[in-house]
Amino acid sequence: MESVIASPSSTGVTPSDSPLVEVSADDSAIPSYLDVHYWWAYVHPNAVRVFERQWLANAILWGNYARLRDAALFDLGPSLPGRTLQVACVYGDLTTRLCRRVAAGGGELDIVDILPVQLSNLRKKLPVHAPARLLRMDSADLKLADETYDRAIMFFLLHEQPESYRERTIAELIRVVKPGGKIVIVDYARPRWWNPIRYVLGAVLAALEPFARDLWHDDINTWMPKPWSERKHDHESFFGGVYQKIIIKR
Ligand SMILES: C[S@@+](CC[C@H](N)C(=O)[O-])C[C@H]1O[C@@H](n2cnc3c(N)ncnc32)[C@H](O)[C@@H]1O
Repeated sequence: MESVIASPSSTGVTPSDSPLVEVSADDSAIPSYLDVHYWWAYVHPNAVRVFERQWLANAILWGNYARLRDAALFDLGPSLPGRTLQVACVYGDLTTRLCRRVAAGGGELDIVDILPVQLSNLRKKLPVHAPARLLRMDSADLKLADETYDRAIMFFLLHEQPESYRERTIAELIRVVKPGGKIVIVDYARPRWWNPIRYVLGAVLAALEPFARDLWHDDINTWMPKPWSERKHDHESFFGGVYQKIIIKR
């Protein structure tokens, strides 16, 4: 399948007839937090070579990758008709599994990421005829129309973003999902007081992931726009509080 590089229309990206078409939807700059704090994990050309390993993604999550992935997919459902959005690529097999569910439902999947190297890597992981589009966009400024997705998923992005980005990313997700749709977010949370991992993890996050501990101190509601910030959302905790899943019903 040919890769097509298209310019954005003024109304944003529209559904495509072709499977696995790559759309360069905008020329947003790479956010400085990625260049400064995450160059080693995502930006550097060697990052993909080092980190695109299922066992390593699992080790980084203390052996919880499959559990968290499956928990997120479970809430979306086994067969996904309509339009599904994934915000930010993920190392490992989350997206290939998501894509299978979308294909089973005859739906379409859009995956957004700001880094071309991550989108190209994802492209290699997906089957050629996967019903998926890879869109280069900033999560905080999606060039996507309002209320056009049936559901969205975001796996471990919020903790990497400074607060103002985090707020805009959540607001954008809420904007593009249809009323009645579902947004599934999986990320770090505050470990329980009795969980010994909190000491090691706290030190690792302080050294490598400067914004992650915001999720130890505040609920994800903190960064939602009103009225979502005032609502109670379904919430599940994993691994002694180290991880959380939250479901926003749009
Ligand atoms: C989802 S997060 C972390 C995922 C997880 N740690 C893993 O195992 O891959 C990583 C991805 O987010 C993307 N990303 C970070 N900030 C972004 C932004 N503002 N807009 C779109 N993508 C972004 C990075 O390019 C990277 O591909």
